[in-house]
Amino acid sequence: MGVMRLGVVETRVMDLEESLRYYTQVVGLQLTGREGNRAYLKAWDEEDHHSVVLVESDRPGLEHMAFKVRFQDDLDKFEKSIEQYGIKVNRVSKGARMAEGQAIEFKLPTGHIMQLYNEIEKVGNGLKLNPDPWPDNLKGMAPPNLDHLLLTGDDIQSVTDFMTRVLDFHISEQVVSVDGEQLIGTFLFRTNSPHDIAFIKGPDSKLHHFAFHLDNWNEVLRAADLLTKNDIALDIGPTRHGLTRGTTVYFFDPSGNRNEVFSGGYVPCADFTPITWTEDQLGKAIFYLERQLNERFVTALT
Ligand SMILES: [Fe+2]
Repeated sequence: MGVMRLGVVETRVMDLEESLRYYTQVVGLQLTGREGNRAYLKAWDEEDHHSVVLVESDRPGLEHMAFKVRFQDDLDKFEKSIEQYGIKVNRVSKGARMAEGQAIEFKLPTGHIMQLYNEIEKVGNGLKLNPDPWPDNLKGMAPPNLDHLLLTGDDIQSVTDFMTRVLDFHISEQVVSVDGEQLIGTFLFRTNSPHDIAFIKGPDSKLHHFAFHLDNWNEVLRAADLLTKNDIALDIGPTRHGLTRGTTVYFFDPSGNRNEVFSGGYVPCADFTPITWTEDQLGKAIFYLERQLNERFVTALT
């Protein structure tokens, strides 16, 4: 059945204790494990052991991202098709990280390390029998789940080709040069969300941001209040995206990794006809209300 959804983002942070305070108290993730220089966190409505791994390092950025596949034998099928496409695949053994089973790992044409996995320990969300709509003791922004990530790379055409042809992602939106000759960005989905992963032209192997889901615009505004209350570096927002139609606020973790909380957007299926933006309208596409990009949004990458 293939790729289900974005499951894990492993992010490098420079001070694990400071980052843990931020991700648990301000963002409001739950700590589910610690081992060596890594901490494992989940959002409150997620059932798997973790969706965010913080790894202490001397530089920020994305260590790897992992998508969960529906069945264990999907790994064999993808291993074969990815190698047939010409990309080398490694097996990651069970237990390489806490609570995780075997995975396959490979490098995207943009240089990012991606894994596919099926097995991960389930810890549950405590809301499966006659449940309340949300649990007690939520903290901070309290997103129910991880939503998507945006990466930069030089060859957007190649990474889009790989993601759609081999991993069977669907295109929701694309950004092209004014003459239509060059692909500048692609937004891709497997779930019924406007994007599970997106790529935009820029330096290879870089993280632009990863985002958490919130229920509505009021929650986005409340998240922005929490940034000020906790003196967290704001990038932009709250505002609306033209791309995806979602509402958003962008901010930075203590190591400079950009985070987003995102709400709304349309509900695409596999037969969705992609939306196209031309590069000259990129300001409106990214920030529909401001109609222009700020310099930091383009240049601050980790
Ligand atoms: Fe985003």
